[in-house]
Amino acid sequence: MKTTFLPFSRPSIGADEIEEVVDSLKSGWITTGPKVQQFESDFAKFVGAKHAVAVNSATSGLHLAYLALGLKPGEEAITTPLTFISTVSMLCSLGVKPVLADIDPNTLNIDPGEIEKKITKKTRAIVPVHFAGLPCDLDRIKTIARKHRLKVIEDAAHAAGTEYKGGKIGALSDATVFSFHPIKNMTTGEGGMITTNDDKLAEKLALLRFHGMNKLAWKRYGKGGSPHYDINCLGYKYNMMDIQAALGIHQLRKLSAFNALRSKYAQIYRKELGSLSQIHLPQDPPYGIVHPWHLFIIVIKTETLKISRDEFIQALSDQNIGTGIHFKVVHQHPYYKELFTAKERNLPNANYVSERILSLPLYPSLNIGDVTRVCAVIKEIIKTNAR
Ligand SMILES: Cc1ncc(COP(=O)(O)O)c(C=O)c1O
Repeated sequence: MKTTFLPFSRPSIGADEIEEVVDSLKSGWITTGPKVQQFESDFAKFVGAKHAVAVNSATSGLHLAYLALGLKPGEEAITTPLTFISTVSMLCSLGVKPVLADIDPNTLNIDPGEIEKKITKKTRAIVPVHFAGLPCDLDRIKTIARKHRLKVIEDAAHAAGTEYKGGKIGALSDATVFSFHPIKNMTTGEGGMITTNDDKLAEKLALLRFHGMNKLAWKRYGKGGSPHYDINCLGYKYNMMDIQAALGIHQLRKLSAFNALRSKYAQIYRKELGSLSQIHLPQDPPYGIVHPWHLFIIVIKTETLKISRDEFIQALSDQNIGTGIHFKVVHQHPYYKELFTAKERNLPNANYVSERILSLPLYPSLNIGDVTRVCAVIKEIIKTNAR
């Protein structure tokens, strides 16, 4: 057995990021300032959106996007059950009811056909999540949204660098929210970005993220600035710091190279594991995509094995291989179970994968030997435990 532990995820931070952070620290300005402004401008250009508003997490970004797009208590928003809790918890925090639509078992993304079935008079928004980075069928989703006059807020926490039919995710709907948490394809430690083409929305988001204040601190305290400010609406403390943006500026420049490496390792996983009848791998959709491979997901068909998914995880851990679970579906968490009726929790595709899903190590600093070792261990576990 190999003695060194292979983690499930690891950020790639280089000398450029470190120098830029040190520059921030030495500059006398470490919170929201010129580096955040540069990062926003670079990110907006990268995704082809008019505006990018930096925040301290995608969770904050989702909260502000829902709020700024006018979602109100008692209204409903349709999303996927296979997501991190923020997608749903930020709806709940505004008194908006999350309505879960089942996933497509091939892509593991929300099934547009299921969205249509869940629309009621109270529905105001659709929140597609590009699961593992694979883009949802946005044209179908936007057609449904137009027909029913709904907002579309993309949860693109996994989708930095994702392309859908030749266009980057980030400029294709009302608002798109990215995450820069350390396991993501690019990181700022913690952080997020909201992108939009809507001038008024961008202005509102910028107000909301910093107390509803009409002027950023670095404009007030800079040379020639006036110390006065006004509070124009109820706001939050969701701003990103320059120290974080210092990381983001360089991570963004490296994103394409990072994603190319992720893709290279994902192709090895696909080749090695694709023919195993005990494992289901998510499939590419019929439309054109660039997949950033945020996660390499396998669905273990536990009915073909003598062990459960959690025992499978333990067997990998015994061989010093780390894994992740993305995700236990929303409606199976104790708090959220109470929010949905048994009928609303009857989502057969999502329920099937929730018990069987597993994320394998995937990040730029892996090497081919690491990936082939993971595949060899998986094959051995299956051989030992096949029914
Ligand atoms: C699908 C999804 N949405 C939202 C988030 C929240 O991101 P953050 O940690 O930046 O708040 C995550 C984080 O893992 C996520 O996976």
